[in-house]
Amino acid sequence: MSGPVAFCGLELAHPVVNGSGTFDALAAQRTFGDAVLPEFPFAAYVSKTITREPRQGNPPPRLWEAPAGLINSIGLPNRGLDGYLADDLPRLAQLPVPLIVNVMGDSPEHVGELVSAVAARPEAAALELNVSCPNVKSGLIMGADPAEIAALLDRVRPLTPKPLIVKLTPNATDVGAVAAAAEAHGADAVSLVNTLRGMALHPATGAPWLGGGTGGVSGPAIRAVALAQIHEVAARVSIPIVGMGGVQTGVHARDFLRAGATLVAVGTESFRDPRAGARIADELEALVRKERTFPDPAGSNAPDSRAERENPQQTRA
Ligand SMILES: Cc1cc2nc3c(=O)[nH]c(=O)nc-3n(C[C@H](O)[C@H](O)[C@H](O)COP(=O)(O)O)c2cc1C
Repeated sequence: MSGPVAFCGLELAHPVVNGSGTFDALAAQRTFGDAVLPEFPFAAYVSKTITREPRQGNPPPRLWEAPAGLINSIGLPNRGLDGYLADDLPRLAQLPVPLIVNVMGDSPEHVGELVSAVAARPEAAALELNVSCPNVKSGLIMGADPAEIAALLDRVRPLTPKPLIVKLTPNATDVGAVAAAAEAHGADAVSLVNTLRGMALHPATGAPWLGGGTGGVSGPAIRAVALAQIHEVAARVSIPIVGMGGVQTGVHARDFLRAGATLVAVGTESFRDPRAGARIADELEALVRKERTFPDPAGSNAPDSRAERENPQQTRA
């Protein structure tokens, strides 16, 4: 495993976590039993998005396999806040890693209700705000607009001292400006990228394939976009970054750390390999050790990334 890493006051065993909605820890425990617990593949667990009311999600079909990834139109099915707090949260608290709860609402007021209720629970170590949803009042996607993000944080920041991570959408004109607004209005960290908007057509009829019409593209297809956005955001903020988008190997994780991320999240790759998180953390550690032993004469292995400066023990153990 890679060395320990400090993130928003949490001590994590290594820098690899899961992307929200891409690894169902409760289903894994149901299927494989408690044996999954000691070998849990992630250093923290990010739960899938919960909303105030229960949601059924989008009508099928919900997935399309793209040449290098997936288009999903799952539509955030979940039990709603009450169901999550009563049933899921106590069970997720048994995981051997800190729990980060991802929430989404369609107005700052609704997000505020979610933040207050979740943050009051000791099981939640931190919260991630999924801002890929339109504000019902303005019609704007909250994460696509710096003013929307500022208003959201002004509403929710005073509600809890727990770390607030804003999950940025790549479907924004200026993701750096949105990240800067998040930092200026009190976010403790940002995570990116969420999925890119995409669609697929039914091969025979030409009608939209996905029940939701459009969906979110994830996996290797978006890795270069994610890397560019992480790099751009790292130049605009000094809060920690959780980088994700198409990470499949330790080399990809190392690249995201070099671009400015403190943690790396694995999403779509976990569908192919449920142990991907642990494998990628192992590969990352081996890579870092090798690069320390055989430094690159061109100097590209110098400790110049933000992650290394903030967590020298992670890369210099
Ligand atoms: C099937 C699926 C479900 C997802 N559900 C959520 C979700 O509930 N909340 C969220 O913030 N992101 C969700 N995401 C986005 C991922 O957390 C991640 O940001 C994105 O997939 C990019 O990472 P990847 O390319 O490694 O999958 C989902 C992605 C997929 C593929």
